[in-house]
Amino acid sequence: MREEVRVLDRAQVRRCAARLDPVAVTEDILRRHARGQVMLPAEGYMAWNNSEGAYSRSIAMLGALTGPDPVYGIKLINAAVSNPSKGIERAGGMSILFDPETARPCFLAEAGYLSALRTSAYTVASLRHLGPETFDAVSVIGCGALARAHLELIARYFPGVSRAHVFDVDPSRAELFREWATTHVPSVAVDTELSARSCAAASQVVITLTVSNEPYADHDWFRPGTFIAHVSLDDLREDVFAEAERLYVDDPELIAENPRRILGRLLQEGAIVPADGGITGSLGEVLTGKVSAARPTGGVVVSNPFGMSILDVGMVDAVRRTAEAEDIGTRIDLLGVAGETR
Ligand SMILES: NC(=O)c1ccc[n+]([C@@H]2O[C@H](COP(=O)([O-])OP(=O)(O)OC[C@H]3O[C@@H](n4cnc5c(N)ncnc54)[C@H](O)[C@@H]3O)[C@@H](O)[C@H]2O)c1
Repeated sequence: MREEVRVLDRAQVRRCAARLDPVAVTEDILRRHARGQVMLPAEGYMAWNNSEGAYSRSIAMLGALTGPDPVYGIKLINAAVSNPSKGIERAGGMSILFDPETARPCFLAEAGYLSALRTSAYTVASLRHLGPETFDAVSVIGCGALARAHLELIARYFPGVSRAHVFDVDPSRAELFREWATTHVPSVAVDTELSARSCAAASQVVITLTVSNEPYADHDWFRPGTFIAHVSLDDLREDVFAEAERLYVDDPELIAENPRRILGRLLQEGAIVPADGGITGSLGEVLTGKVSAARPTGGVVVSNPFGMSILDVGMVDAVRRTAEAEDIGTRIDLLGVAGETR
């Protein structure tokens, strides 16, 4: 008897993902979400301080796409804020798909790359439908792994973007990012900004990719007609949510369940009431036409994606199809038979 799991490292994941249109995959999953064809249990969360006293955590994210061709799986994504100082990415982990019939794990992939890809793909999808009609520049606050993934995908899907304004509390990170971009994303010129505020004001597309746990940006930081992708979830102060023209989310319940992030806190305190128009709707509802898409006019439109496991699970499944078709990865037998590597 064999119990085979196909395992993909990051290079193999990248090879398979290069064949995908990650934004189309993401939009497809978001439509299934809006139609209720998903299972999205609450996240498992465990935090501790490591021996340096640095915040460290593990998040276990189960999710499923139901209906025809169901997909079941989990992303385990762990992080310690001290990792970048050791020369390793802050966050990393693995995603596992389950056999729909036996429920056993059948596919395992390095999760950091796909996690960054699906997060950037969500931002690109939201920009397509809710961002300014045209834009040639973006502002990125926080210059880590997610910033790189975002710049690559924005250059691919919005070839008219020729400039990125960036800021990082650690100026050396901003400078490294600028150098990285000259070789990896040469179509976009990177300007390092002296403050988060000047970065936010420099364009009409602002993406927060920090590890801040203290909101710092006020509504009057942003130009009229700005789209804000609040990806790092603890950057915008309450007035930005209160005064936004529209507020779009990925899943209101996931956000409300988590008071560690500002929007969850505001929802739990009743400062923002979804039913009163405090939340306009989800991106999936926009894609299925249940909620109207509104681009920023005189104020700001905010997208606040909590980060749904189903985006990982669905993206991993798309990678699995290529891996199986082209026999990419290492097959290991959990019951003991030696593996084969490609
Ligand atoms: N919403 C989602 O779906 C989703 C998914 C994945 C990651 N994230 C979040 O994205 C964020 C970025 O992730 P990453 O892997 O790129 O992290 P990272 O550690 O690689 O990079 C974060 C960068 O932000 C900088 N920074 C910290 N505080 C700052 C501040 N106040 N102003 C400006 N810069 C600041 C750091 O110096 C660092 O360079 C994290 O908060 C992560 O939790 C969100």
